[in-house]
Amino acid sequence: MSQPTSIRSTLAEALRGWPPPPLDPAGPMGGVTATLSWVLFGMGLAVMLIVFGVLAVALFGGERWRARLARERVIWIGGLAFPVVVLTGILVYGLTATQQLSQPSQPGEMRIRVTGEMWWWRVAYLDGQGRPMMLDANELHIPVGQPVTLELEAADVIHSFWVPRLGGKLDMIPGRRNILRLQADRPGVFAGQCAEYCGGPHALMGFVVVAHPADEFQRWRAARLRGPAPAATPLEARGAQLFGQAGCGACHAIAGTPANGLAGPDLTYVGARRSLGAGILANNQGALAGWISDSQAIKPGNRMPPYKMLAGEDLRALAAYLASRR
Ligand code: CUA
Repeated sequence: MSQPTSIRSTLAEALRGWPPPPLDPAGPMGGVTATLSWVLFGMGLAVMLIVFGVLAVALFGGERWRARLARERVIWIGGLAFPVVVLTGILVYGLTATQQLSQPSQPGEMRIRVTGEMWWWRVAYLDGQGRPMMLDANELHIPVGQPVTLELEAADVIHSFWVPRLGGKLDMIPGRRNILRLQADRPGVFAGQCAEYCGGPHALMGFVVVAHPADEFQRWRAARLRGPAPAATPLEARGAQLFGQAGCGACHAIAGTPANGLAGPDLTYVGARRSLGAGILANNQGALAGWISDSQAIKPGNRMPPYKMLAGEDLRALAAYLASRR
């Protein structure tokens, strides 16, 4: 499985090639939007050719043809009846085709609640009763070949959830729960991006969807339910201690520790994520230390204050501890 270092490289790679991500579906819901795109493109092209043809007749055609074009009936048919029929047809086709993208989920289907926050993604895997059983951020793990139901919510302003290769784009609206279904038919890491302007670092609000083969997904799920290992080295233990002392737990939660803040991303598995800062940095200890020290220099406007007062060795300990949360 390819493991891009960050969303930006994933998107940049994808954009260099043809077809672009929305026209290169990796599952049935992505296929629906790709087909819809081609149909709309084809219809637009056909109408454009007809209009240019009529224009050519009007400009360069013979006397008789131009007289025919000037009849009132041409206006009624070409200017009124034709657009009404074509647009109605496209509307009905579009609504029918996209209906399955936001169908209510089937019983037993995996459900994930994704909440758009300024400027990251809160992720909660739900149990059969719809209760959160596992928390994460900025990354979704799904099994290949199975539809997954996403409950999309927003905590502050309107965001929009979009994984171009896996399905449609759907707004996340405060006070509402929108349903979007996704399915990946091949393993891989698929880039996602907030697609609705939501303030300052909107462009830096990315995430990834990781699609695992079924058996690999079961192993991933079992490991997640077991929880991360306690700090193993003296450096990690020092980091864990500093995490408490520096007050990180006021905004961040790490399951099994006193840190239970809800304002920022859950860090229980931060070391396992592919990126930091919602898809903008490759995740490693250097990036973790840099982010803690001055995330404002990396993602200006984000809600995490800089911790420039921390000494280099403290940053190294914190980074080692967080990297071991996996
Ligand atoms: Cu969130 Cu744009």
